[in-house]
Amino acid sequence: MKRPHVIVNCASSVDGKIALVGKHPLKLSCEEDMARVHRLRNECDAVLVGIETVLADDPKLTVKEKYVPGCRQPLRVIIDSRFRTPENAEVMKPVAPTLIVTCCREFKRGHVEVITCGDDRVDLSALMEFLHTRGVKKLLVEGGSTIIWSFLKEQLVDKMMVFFSPLIIGGTAPSIAGGEGAESEEETIRFELQAVERLGNGYLVTLIPRYAQ
Ligand SMILES: NC(=O)c1ccc[n+]([C@@H]2O[C@H](COP(=O)([O-])OP(=O)(O)OC[C@H]3O[C@@H](n4cnc5c(N)ncnc54)[C@H](OP(=O)(O)O)[C@@H]3O)[C@@H](O)[C@H]2O)c1
Repeated sequence: MKRPHVIVNCASSVDGKIALVGKHPLKLSCEEDMARVHRLRNECDAVLVGIETVLADDPKLTVKEKYVPGCRQPLRVIIDSRFRTPENAEVMKPVAPTLIVTCCREFKRGHVEVITCGDDRVDLSALMEFLHTRGVKKLLVEGGSTIIWSFLKEQLVDKMMVFFSPLIIGGTAPSIAGGEGAESEEETIRFELQAVERLGNGYLVTLIPRYAQ
């Protein structure tokens, strides 16, 4: 299958949580990590998140000039089977092109394109092929928890980068990878550790899934 090179990036607490209990957002990246993420976005052709991240965080998913002078704006891709993206969401604003991937609607209005890909859940493999034909060579997956699990489970990830912030959230807060999870050792997703580096107040871990080697 021809697909983009896929990098997963997220910021986590040391207990592996990526938001507060109840999915409430929390800034986990320090300034140094923010700069790294914006440089990474600038290198990618598209940035992808799940609909629950749009509803919880209302992210812009753009590259800030402050971090990358003369930046370009990647395509913003939202995984949203039932087309729940609010009209007034930041990703609907015309500062960058947006692709909403649903299982129910297809239309194009200005900078927003809505497509169908899958029957009741977005078919991520088919979407990867579609993005490749659209010229997306490098894709950044920024979450959330359920989307990261699906990408890993479907063996669509080439590299994973996690910034660990020195705090603990605990409880039922969403973790780096949610979804169904592994019920047996065989179902776990194994990585090779590529790098660990100190970054600002935390540390950045770069992992390569074993299936990608
Ligand atoms: N710290 C970080 O770096 C970071 C980054 C991003 C997000 N977050 C946090 O993550 C949380 C949201 O994560 P989440 O797990 O609730 O939601 P999510 O991963 O953002 O979105 C999941 C939703 O995507 C849709 N979907 C459609 N097809 C799918 C497929 N094939 N596989 C997986 N999902 C599919 C489903 O909704 P439909 O059925 O309606 O389509 C599903 O519920 C928020 O609290 C946010 O703050 C943290």
